[in-house]
Amino acid sequence: MGVVLGIESSCDETAAALVTHDRRILAERIASQVDEHAPYGGVVPEIAARAHSERLAPLVQEVLDDAGLTLADCDAIAATAGPGLIGGVMVGLVTAKALAMAGDKPLLAVNHLEGHALSPRLADAALQFPYALLLVSGGHCQILRVEGVGRYSRLATTIDDALGEAFDKTAKILGLGYPGGPAVEKLARGGDPRAVPLPRPLVGSGEPHFSFAGLKSAVMRVHESGEHADADIAASFQQAAIDCVIDRLGVAFETMPPVYALVVAGGVAANAAMRGALEDFAATLGLPFSAPPMALCTDNAAMIAWAGQERLAAGFAADPLDVSARPRWPLDPDAAPARGAGVKA
Ligand code: KG4
Ligand code: ZN
Repeated sequence: MGVVLGIESSCDETAAALVTHDRRILAERIASQVDEHAPYGGVVPEIAARAHSERLAPLVQEVLDDAGLTLADCDAIAATAGPGLIGGVMVGLVTAKALAMAGDKPLLAVNHLEGHALSPRLADAALQFPYALLLVSGGHCQILRVEGVGRYSRLATTIDDALGEAFDKTAKILGLGYPGGPAVEKLARGGDPRAVPLPRPLVGSGEPHFSFAGLKSAVMRVHESGEHADADIAASFQQAAIDCVIDRLGVAFETMPPVYALVVAGGVAANAAMRGALEDFAATLGLPFSAPPMALCTDNAAMIAWAGQERLAAGFAADPLDVSARPRWPLDPDAAPARGAGVKA
């Protein structure tokens, strides 16, 4: 039946899943580390790495048990090999190498971003290449043209913060704790998105890149002024973020060769207001809009197993057992850096 075991450990979720070539998720488990990191208001890399190493092996056994399978039934082992917090990535990759060696199975070292980029095709069998992808997570904020497995053309990236990071920082300013995105969205539901004047960084610029640092600083100033209700700040921030995304997409589409669909992936794709705005934008272009179900948007192992399936189907070779973990690993190494881009790929 063609089963790939997927492993994800690049940030604060330890996850394992079994996915078939015909898009069935046979078993899936995610151990979140939210409770461990919450006291620090963000992910602490050392705590994450230790938690991954404690939980991953039992988690793999649990998904095999859930599916009634053994390692021998798996056709390949796929693990995130980067980009991400290097300690966690190494735990996942070493575990995958050990399983591949013990079971004499091919090892697939998967780019976490490729997992996000292909996740919509796990949920939607009709989605064909090429498609436009808005990839918005805690660490990444990019517009890509997904041309095929392993073929990604990056049109835009962020010159400072990622969109999920902007949600997380806004949550911190408003005292909502971590993880921030869902908390900001919840608070925004009771607020007025036009109540607080906030900037829309780079809106109107001719290049489709993103910037959110100025928006975050404005949120901080507005909050300190004490003149606005937190719900109004959250709603106005979310609206500003959405306006930026739609404007930047508009610029990207001016130069993008034709695509079959607009797709969103990554943790921020779980935001319902963002999804609604993207759906409306796609309609103005006459394009179908596709977003994976919530559970496939945030970090998970099914998307890593699926990326492995896609690589096998596309005829990619297995990776050698000495393949390295990569803290940075751009999907499109040829993309020109954005003006003023810092350390974020
Ligand atoms: O893809 P993901 O799980 O991990 C990374 O690879 O970064 O994305 C996590 C990010 C966090 O910044 C989180 O605050 C954001 O996605 N996020 C949201 C929502 N759910 C998660 N942002 C806005 N609204 C949401 N509902
Ligand atoms: Zn992610």
